[in-house]
Amino acid sequence: MADPVIFVLNGPNLNLLGMREPEIYGHDTLDDIAGMLEDRGAELGLAIDMRQSNHEGHLIDWLHEAQAEGVKAVLLNAGAYTHTSIALHDAIKSIRTPVIEVHLSDPMKREAFRHTSYVGMVAVDCVSGLGAKSYIVALERAAKL
Ligand code: DQA
Repeated sequence: MADPVIFVLNGPNLNLLGMREPEIYGHDTLDDIAGMLEDRGAELGLAIDMRQSNHEGHLIDWLHEAQAEGVKAVLLNAGAYTHTSIALHDAIKSIRTPVIEVHLSDPMKREAFRHTSYVGMVAVDCVSGLGAKSYIVALERAAKL
């Protein structure tokens, strides 16, 4: 039987990881993180489907797809949409697939406008502040769901 699938969805500006504010987000690129997730996923018996978009609607479509395809869980780093998007909040509520919120930085230790998370209100779990390792810890938690 094929390995259960984990969607790893990345929102705006995360395509620039590696050169984007490395003092906050570190030096790993999104491709580096995808490689780490695939290695850990192979150990855990999970298939990784990693995607990135700068467009809110793509993230919503992919959340719907996660449910339609019966994926095991979604790791979602919605970037700044975390703090603004009621549409993403509603999309997560509209599906039964569990969503784990992921952040490289710890938004709670940053500007006040990052302290509200519309994703976190409906996600089953959150991993933040560990840099690229946030994704790995989130994957390990997804494996146990
Ligand atoms: C982020 C934190 C958000 O506040 C920010 O808008 C991002 C990245 C993170 O991974 O630390 O784009 O989601």
